[in-house]
Amino acid sequence: MVADLFLRSTMVDAKGSGFILDGGRMNHFPIIRRVLDRIFVEMLYKYGYSFDQVSQKMRAYLQHMADFYHGRSGPIDFAHPFYRFAYVLIYLPGRVVLLKQIFRQCSGLTKLLSEKILAGQQITGASLGGGPGTELLALKSYAYESMYKDGVDLQFHFTACDFVKAWEDVWWAIDTETNMFLVQQEVPKALVVSDILCGDLAGPAQGTNKLHGKDFYIMSYVISEVSNVPTFKQFLDVLVQSAPRGAVFLAVDISPVSVVNKAIEVFRSTGLNVFALSYIDDRVINPAEILHFAFYTRKLNWNIQENFKAFWLYGVKP
Ligand SMILES: C[S@@+](CC[C@H](N)C(=O)[O-])C[C@H]1O[C@@H](n2cnc3c(N)ncnc32)[C@H](O)[C@@H]1O
Repeated sequence: MVADLFLRSTMVDAKGSGFILDGGRMNHFPIIRRVLDRIFVEMLYKYGYSFDQVSQKMRAYLQHMADFYHGRSGPIDFAHPFYRFAYVLIYLPGRVVLLKQIFRQCSGLTKLLSEKILAGQQITGASLGGGPGTELLALKSYAYESMYKDGVDLQFHFTACDFVKAWEDVWWAIDTETNMFLVQQEVPKALVVSDILCGDLAGPAQGTNKLHGKDFYIMSYVISEVSNVPTFKQFLDVLVQSAPRGAVFLAVDISPVSVVNKAIEVFRSTGLNVFALSYIDDRVINPAEILHFAFYTRKLNWNIQENFKAFWLYGVKP
């Protein structure tokens, strides 16, 4: 009965919109807006800039970030709050929609979750390179809308790892904002208990024991960025060895064939069975939802990303 309810709720798909057909919704757009307000105020105080000064400077950071993602400029540094603000504003709103869509469609993940729910077990997951909290927000929203609202009793433990320690503030802001929503909805216990640690995915895996043995791992827009592939493979290999049989490793990223091949090659090298290569080329945000960010997009004269060309696939530990 519970699994039946769960599977039915995961079949919900309003193409591209992020809405579900029945049940309540954790609207992540106002949550991201409030997180942006927090970072913006921090910048005003920290640097003593006026509102207009921050807005003016921000445009240069936005341009650099766009150039970087088009391969036209040197690396961006998320340790700097201007880049963190720019990333959260431009990419998070759409990527959360994208990830929720993928969670619903990824049969490896939905199968794993329904088995765990039937067995009455807690579900553990991790995001690699998940510093901003994109995956955390998508997971909380997905868990609330697709399971909790249908009466499925579950609890997630979710850990992120990123080598930019400064992301922690944004991560905890997202965690707090989503918890406030859940308390308002009278969710009786923590749906997702979360944690973040600082670690380099392309460095030695020591010190990242908290990432071991999870039921699922998410790599969202990170494989494309990791340049030291041999050490990344070693890092991932340690996680694969530590994970239980059937653990799911989900990769989502930009869709050039070189990145797709890199993801497949990295996964296969660690012994994972690779499934379900799928492509997305879609507008994922409704115009009405963009209005949540109008205060900033008008001030900065910059648009948030609405269209995504991406691929996703998953690997399963045999
Ligand atoms: C494009 S962002 C993606 C963020 C998030 N996963 C998402 O989907 O929005 C890439 C993230 O990976 C992190 N990252 C890149 N290389 C890394 C490495 N070698 N070790 C740990 N984190 C890394 C960056 O700090 C950044 O937060």
